[in-house]
Amino acid sequence: MLTPWEEVNRSIAEVAYQTFGNCDVRVPSPCGLVIFGASGDLTKRKILPSLYRLHKHRLLPESFFVLGLSRTEMTTDQFRLSMQVAVKGEYPNDFNDTQWQEFGTKLHYSPIDYGTAVSYQQSLREEILRLEKEYGTGRNHIFYLAIPPTLYDDVIFNLGNTDLTRQDGGTTHVVIEKPFGRDLDSARKLNRLLRKFFEEKEIYRIDHYLAMETVQNILMFRFANFIFEPLWNRRYIDHVQITASETLGVEHRAGYYEQAGVIRDMFQNHLFQLLALSAMEPPARFEAESVRDERMKVLHSILPFPLDKLDVHIAIGQYGRGEMDGKPTAAYREEPGVSETSTTPTFAAMKLFIDNWRWAGVPFYLRSGKRLSAHRTEISIHFKPVPHRLFSQTLNEPIEPNTLILRVHPNEGMSLILQAKKPGSKVYLKPLILDFSYQRDVLMDAYEWVLLDCMKDDHLLFVREDGVEQAWSLLTPVINQLESTASLRGFPNYAAGASGPHEAALLIERDGRAWRPL
Ligand code: BG6
Repeated sequence: MLTPWEEVNRSIAEVAYQTFGNCDVRVPSPCGLVIFGASGDLTKRKILPSLYRLHKHRLLPESFFVLGLSRTEMTTDQFRLSMQVAVKGEYPNDFNDTQWQEFGTKLHYSPIDYGTAVSYQQSLREEILRLEKEYGTGRNHIFYLAIPPTLYDDVIFNLGNTDLTRQDGGTTHVVIEKPFGRDLDSARKLNRLLRKFFEEKEIYRIDHYLAMETVQNILMFRFANFIFEPLWNRRYIDHVQITASETLGVEHRAGYYEQAGVIRDMFQNHLFQLLALSAMEPPARFEAESVRDERMKVLHSILPFPLDKLDVHIAIGQYGRGEMDGKPTAAYREEPGVSETSTTPTFAAMKLFIDNWRWAGVPFYLRSGKRLSAHRTEISIHFKPVPHRLFSQTLNEPIEPNTLILRVHPNEGMSLILQAKKPGSKVYLKPLILDFSYQRDVLMDAYEWVLLDCMKDDHLLFVREDGVEQAWSLLTPVINQLESTASLRGFPNYAAGASGPHEAALLIERDGRAWRPL
């Protein structure tokens, strides 16, 4: 006999991959995927392993090819071999030689000089036309920019000037990774460049958080259950916390991270999108533009941060030496490629308000950082305390308000914390946790969703031009102010393996609240 949660898990397992929860069973139309940056980390760790899994589950079109491009001189055979090693490394238990043989033959490679128009007009063009014919993909192309942002201008300009992106009867999709600009001006500039050559409906801006199963579930959970929506507002909710804490440090990405810092890296995109999904109004229809309109309205309603009182709203930090899993851990300033005097923040906590009918006066506390004590992404909804303390004579302790926790990862699922009587002759209350966890092995990786939805022309999990710019317009003045006063901060101000700087605790404690423990 299965418990109800086991039933749910089992049915998810049954439908996953065959039907995607009955939403959309279409296998995409024939297409060719052209990856700029094919020798890079993203291609090896995410794009190719996800494509392989889609192939394995028969979700790629029959007529399909991948053309990898990068500056590295390599043959198609060498490319196939290096991708085979990468995919096997990512999914050792999923890897199957026969299936790889089928999939691997669809991979091709050409070296390219990103800055030279002739590389696009001649060799790239010829190669794509040849593959189109060989695979019968028609004129449907996805151009995936898995390259550093410094190369965006060259690639978009040169690609946009070929006739490969304006083909009668075909489709063009351009997929672009974060970081999408480093402030409002650069994001606008990048949007303008893209729009010079492509229509908005051809552009797919990735925020991989939007494509996580559990993040997609936020909307299902909110709008497919009658019991939560009436409570989802300022009358019943005291505050909301959104946490994305990581145990990892900056790893090998100092070159990028030193220029970015945590606000650009995590808040402008991932955390603001989680916030938008948690706070948005029900869309008119479950389709991309309606959902993106509602997400956008939330971003529009966020009150600007008061620059003269920034410390009340934002706390930042940088990790120093500490201990992780019992082992001594280097400070951020000691990581390879990081300046000894770096003032780049690796942690931030923010308090913000959404100025609309539903949320007026409800604080949203957001925090994210590297080298913290736990790896956890979650949204917690903290309800108000009960208005009448009926049990106050018999209980010596305050009654903990209810909390709903949406766990994005790890241990994907949700918990609702209630109070219940502890069995026995005395009146004791005890928190009771109703808990649901997804079965990890049935969840699709965010990149599988991204690739599949892009092939199906579905923009729901992607960020629109106005969404990117609105997030930057809120954060650019904040980042500028923080950077102009960076030298005054006593970094490092939290130890690796701790829960963040003291200033972050103060930010919420001043309001008589506390962070959920990591
Ligand atoms: C990326 C950031 O977008 O998200 C990284 O650039 C961060 O710095 C990562 O580590 C976190 O993603 P996830 O899926 O591990 O939560």
